[in-house]
Amino acid sequence: METKTAEILEKLEKTSDEFWNVSHQTGNFINMLIKIKNAQNVLELGTSNGYSGLWIADALKETGGHLTTIEFWEKRQCLAREYFKECGFTDLATFKIGQAYDVIKDEIKEEFDFVFIDANKQEYLSFFEVIDPILKPGGVILADNITSHSKKVKPFVDAISSNKDYQVQILDLPDGLLTAYKKQEKNNG
Ligand SMILES: C[S@@+](CC[C@H](N)C(=O)[O-])C[C@H]1O[C@@H](n2cnc3c(N)ncnc32)[C@H](O)[C@@H]1O
Repeated sequence: METKTAEILEKLEKTSDEFWNVSHQTGNFINMLIKIKNAQNVLELGTSNGYSGLWIADALKETGGHLTTIEFWEKRQCLAREYFKECGFTDLATFKIGQAYDVIKDEIKEEFDFVFIDANKQEYLSFFEVIDPILKPGGVILADNITSHSKKVKPFVDAISSNKDYQVQILDLPDGLLTAYKKQEKNNG
């Protein structure tokens, strides 16, 4: 990781409560997993000020991939754009403004191999319903706040855990991170 990116991540960690950012450990794990998977097309729901997006973009620099990230709070997205610019990541990302569910349904025409869900916890199930059709077999879904907001995300956790197309594990990272793998062959147990 470039010194500039590490410095900005460290700076943003001082205001992480205000911007509801993922933990450093979660960011580091997402960054590693994107590189391990060699992910090419990543979708993020919930940009905030770009903290997790910077971890994602740093990994995509190595894989040669691209990030599409969605946020409905314009002021936050402006901050994210600034930090991406400072890190030299502008060309690695497409910023979409609006309700994540509507943006995915109405504007997204491509498929993804890696999706990170970190927007409104009550909408996780409806997010999953629009993400599944655009996630390639072999793709990965990560979702944050699985233990910190367990009641709100339960409908999503139940749905994806009982879906035979997915292999699921909840990781004991701060706030709980659900990791799901979309199987290559449908319903093969
Ligand atoms: C937990 S924060 C995201 C933190 C970010 N992933 C990070 O770690 O740096 C959630 C963000 O999603 C936005 N958000 C919540 N519900 C949304 C929705 N339905 N569509 C778009 N953005 C949403 C909020 O404004 C907030 O900035």
